[in-house]
Amino acid sequence: MNNITAVKGFKDILPEEAHHWHQVERIVRGVFADFGFQEIHVPILEKTELFTKGIGDTTDIVEKEMYTFRDRGEDSLTLRPEATSSILRAYIEHSMFSRSSVTKLFSIGPMFRRERPQKGRYRQFHQIDVEVLGAEEPQADAELILMLVHLFKMVGLENLSLDINSLGCPECRLIFRQKVIDFLQDTHDSLCPDCQRLLVNNPLRVFDCKNDSCRRLIQDAPSILDFICEGCRCHFNQVRTCLDMFGMPYNLNTRMVRGLDYYTRTTFEITVPHMGSQNAVVGGGRYDGLIRDLGGPDIPGIGFAIGFERLMSLLQDRQESPPPPVLFIAALGSEAQAAAFKLCNRLRLEGIRVEMDYAGKSLKSQMKKADKSGSLYTLILGEREIQAGEGELRDMGSSKQRTVPLDNLKSHIVQ
Ligand code: HAM
Repeated sequence: MNNITAVKGFKDILPEEAHHWHQVERIVRGVFADFGFQEIHVPILEKTELFTKGIGDTTDIVEKEMYTFRDRGEDSLTLRPEATSSILRAYIEHSMFSRSSVTKLFSIGPMFRRERPQKGRYRQFHQIDVEVLGAEEPQADAELILMLVHLFKMVGLENLSLDINSLGCPECRLIFRQKVIDFLQDTHDSLCPDCQRLLVNNPLRVFDCKNDSCRRLIQDAPSILDFICEGCRCHFNQVRTCLDMFGMPYNLNTRMVRGLDYYTRTTFEITVPHMGSQNAVVGGGRYDGLIRDLGGPDIPGIGFAIGFERLMSLLQDRQESPPPPVLFIAALGSEAQAAAFKLCNRLRLEGIRVEMDYAGKSLKSQMKKADKSGSLYTLILGEREIQAGEGELRDMGSSKQRTVPLDNLKSHIVQ
């Protein structure tokens, strides 16, 4: 019989890796708390229309990548491809806007996109997602980017490339959209079939095409910043002034359009040059009309999502092993084994990391196991020691051994 393996593009996170994820998550949570963010848990499954409305039905995600199914012939449901839509749905559903004028939320969890799996691209991946709801001011954009860059610094990553752009508001984008169509009209037949289709449905997405000949064609296309309205220009200039105030370097990338349709005004990405085509570690931006489009009040919003797998791949060489046990108990004989079992679990309940071997092997074999576990101490228990209420405590670093009373063992262990 063939072994059953994980689904293509779905990946196990083994204990050593999970431990490292946990360490990074602790730092991330600390930074979020400093900046006033609160955690929200939203379901993995949502009604499909949430994403078609939110992300946009001419995006790659909605057209090709969603895991959508009928729930036993009833509602059409989708495994969430991103967290923003779900968080906004919850924000509207629970009238969270009535509790506070600005709401800062974060969520960490799995997302699902049926993309072609490759290095750094999975069908189940994890995001660290952050949303600020209710703040229209450019300071909010700059503060969010500042927190993001600070967070990367705190986990040990500096000198990453931050790209920013403004996509304007729906009014000025409409003008730019037409300019792009006009510009590419004459070269229509030289575009790849995907871009030809995009030119009709979603022209700005042509800027994201990886095809060399399309890239050459769009090189001289107009820049969105030449067409954004006075309000959007002023907002973007203020974001940039704030970033300068923080001394934060960035690239102005007027070709960055992002793959989701809800963005307005400020957008940003953090990329890592040597990561190949899947080089975006973070993507985010402002989505001022989205809460209204999803049926809520007209409240602005901005956020970002970090790809957790991609972040961890940058930190691979800093992986630390999980902490070893403090104590390993080696017991000889059935009576000593029973006493060891009791002692081992009593100490665990008192908050000490203890391991033992239940197989009743030779002392040599148990000592080998203790050594391999990396424990700081080994306690050797035989029938004689049990009778005396004592054990032989060996300091694994210095190899020094002494007899200690079992009822006061804790005081002899320096953690
Ligand atoms: P996104 O750019 O689609 O934005 O995804 C954000 C990040 O998730 C990417 O930069 C990447 O690191 C990671 N990611 C995306 N797809 C995959 C994949 N197949 N495998 C591994 N990692 C992946 C959003 O999802 C928006 N909701 C971000 C946002 C929040 N905008 C405003 N608020």
